[in-house]
Amino acid sequence: MFPKNFLWGATTSSHQIEGSNFNNDWWEWEQKGRTKDPSGDACRSYTLYEKDFDLAQQLNHNAHRLSIEWSRIEPAEGKINQEELRHYKKVIAVLKARGIEPIVTVHHFTNPGWFSYLGGWLNDRAHKYFSFFIDTLTECFKDDVRYWITINEPMVLAWHSYHLGVWPPGEKSFLKMWRALNNMLKAHNIAYQKIHKVYQKRTAIKPMVGIATNLRPFYVCPKTNNMPVHVGVFFRHRMYNMYSLDKIKRHMDFIGVNYYEGEYNSSDPELKLPYFGGNCTYLHGHNPHANQLGWHFDPNGLYETMKWLKKYKRPIFITENGTCEEDDSWRIKFIDEHLKRVEKAIAEGINVIGYLHWSLLDNFEWHHGFAPRFGLIEVDYKTYERRIKPSALHLARIIKAGKV
Ligand code: FCB
Repeated sequence: MFPKNFLWGATTSSHQIEGSNFNNDWWEWEQKGRTKDPSGDACRSYTLYEKDFDLAQQLNHNAHRLSIEWSRIEPAEGKINQEELRHYKKVIAVLKARGIEPIVTVHHFTNPGWFSYLGGWLNDRAHKYFSFFIDTLTECFKDDVRYWITINEPMVLAWHSYHLGVWPPGEKSFLKMWRALNNMLKAHNIAYQKIHKVYQKRTAIKPMVGIATNLRPFYVCPKTNNMPVHVGVFFRHRMYNMYSLDKIKRHMDFIGVNYYEGEYNSSDPELKLPYFGGNCTYLHGHNPHANQLGWHFDPNGLYETMKWLKKYKRPIFITENGTCEEDDSWRIKFIDEHLKRVEKAIAEGINVIGYLHWSLLDNFEWHHGFAPRFGLIEVDYKTYERRIKPSALHLARIIKAGKV
């Protein structure tokens, strides 16, 4: 059984659904042809959000995670667009009027153009620019919002943008990756303190502030069960999972877990990764089912993740979990199997406070464009009509029953 006050819902992010976010670094990246499709009108949720929230309400959601687009609020350094602030104020009011708790992400991968020209997260003063945005938002939403996620997946952003170079600004440097990551974590710690200070002084709401972090277990591939692979698994776990959490552990009221899959490691020479091995999930067929992006089905990895997180002694909030599928029946299986693990963890005394599915709608999946379908709700990109998928109804039934 899930607790009565469990937070249930779905997650979205501004750039992936709103449309016409032309003031940020992603828009520019898309115009350079660096993504499969440009985001363009996305799901037109900037104007259709009431319809989206009506559907979420129909699906029994009592929480919804959304992000506020920095480049809309602060299109030029230090200049606040009041009209956009009023827009998001209305978005949050519309959610609350439907009995849905807003979970607000402040930074979900996109940077305003001006911030990226100043070096983005490589700029050691990045926390100053981010703080100004945080101040603006907390001042505006201090009476409306309790749950804040300062930055979405700092490690994933640093890795794709500054090491792999597939996201803006397209840097390919291990050192820059660490620098950007550390600047984000520093910005988070400062933002955490700022938010708490504002709420302490002014309102009765006790804020819950965290980051959403992409976590995964790393496994030793039984085909190459040797010392270097064990060492590789040991370091990957520390670098990928623990590094960020350790740096912010005194500044988090909950741990936001974005969980998609675990990763097998092997020293198979075919991987051409000489030292401590690499991801062999696909090479060695460890995946019982691969989704549209090739990510594999590993619900138990979520359970393992929740177990090792106990040491941080903070409530766990599943802030993203989902899969992109042509065949929606796989999403049903995915939801069932992952929620069974959450139920098991709760039964064992692990404090899990909510589950948010990625995503409410089919949307713009970054450099992959629109092809991967992660939504509980299908979007017709010609008419912008929404159609509820069977998996959405399935999740709605689980929410109502309070058990899988
Ligand atoms: C997560 C991101 C989210 C979406 C999903 C599929 O890593 O936070 O924006 O792209 O993956």
